[in-house]
Amino acid sequence: MSAEKNGVFVPGNDLRAQLEQLRRHSPDVFRRIDLARVESWEWDRTQGDSHRDDFDADAAGGRGSSYVRAQLANVDARAHGIGRLMELMRPTPVKRGAAGRRTIVDLLGGNGLVRQVCARLGIDDVEVVTCDASPHMVETAWAAGIPALLQRAERQLFQSESVEGVLLAYGSHHIPPADRGSVVNDAYRVLRQGGTFLLHDFQTGSPMDTWFTTIVHPYSQTGHEFDHFTGDEIEEYLLKAGFDAYEVIEIDDPYTATAPSPEVAERNLGEYLVNMYGLCKKEAELGVEGASRWAVGEAKRIFHYDDGEPLHSTMEYVDDLGAWELTIPRKALVGVGRKL
Ligand SMILES: C[S@@+](CC[C@H](N)C(=O)[O-])C[C@H]1O[C@@H](n2cnc3c(N)ncnc32)[C@H](O)[C@@H]1O
Repeated sequence: MSAEKNGVFVPGNDLRAQLEQLRRHSPDVFRRIDLARVESWEWDRTQGDSHRDDFDADAAGGRGSSYVRAQLANVDARAHGIGRLMELMRPTPVKRGAAGRRTIVDLLGGNGLVRQVCARLGIDDVEVVTCDASPHMVETAWAAGIPALLQRAERQLFQSESVEGVLLAYGSHHIPPADRGSVVNDAYRVLRQGGTFLLHDFQTGSPMDTWFTTIVHPYSQTGHEFDHFTGDEIEEYLLKAGFDAYEVIEIDDPYTATAPSPEVAERNLGEYLVNMYGLCKKEAELGVEGASRWAVGEAKRIFHYDDGEPLHSTMEYVDDLGAWELTIPRKALVGVGRKL
């Protein structure tokens, strides 16, 4: 991508250029950066980076381009879950008279979706800093006017005790189990007293795990073989990192699509799933429309919860929106760690 917006285009792998833009346009974020850490990471990068990058451009073997296309076409598809995460980020009890914006590091920020959704939800007391390990995603964020930082979650460039929130969400399973403890420890390091860390992912064996194993792994270009999480595992990371208060909870984190008719809502959600998960092999087999129909059918079949109150996909006319809304239910596990 080589678009330029607001006179700012920053190549995804040029960390120095990103920092310079931050220094000029977001000085409050820039002053939290630890320049010694930047230097040491830059040095290590010159020695080569062996990490895989599933979110590189599709043409380069990743699924980043189609992923971003899905987010742009339906920015609100996961807004419910993102809004819930932002509620959990709030300090408890809310400090009376606490003024100013809270800085939240979005460790797996991609093209800046969480930041965008916060703005759309009217959450205006947070500065979400989009960070990502994929140069393609960082570049895409900048090209859309969203400040972003090339940073690995396990090696943050922020100063110790410098931010109010750290979010590890929508892709935590991409962090190998051997690195997960370091990611949580580093989140603890950068948090100020009173700050909150959230670790969001999906329960091992849950419908999301089934979706990745039976749909994304066989039909995407990248494959998808990653270990998900258990509640005990998340608790152990939070305990070992030193969080004074922590818990693991389940939240509703559905996919939704709204449209003037039920048929269009189904098609939109199908397209969203095909693009988000890069299901190009199904698209080659069935064509664009056929793959969308297949994907939404598979999602309805896989995403249901029958323990406790049954939860299945719904199609409803929502008066407030004047539109039909298709909801595919999904539950996520969230570890909440607070540095008191
Ligand atoms: C599923 S995307 C989520 C993007 C965005 N938060 C969203 O919800 O649309 C996961 C992102 O995590 C990034 N990622 C994976 N491993 C990472 C790591 N170790 N450090 C930083 N980013 C990483 C990927 O490059 C990708 O952009």
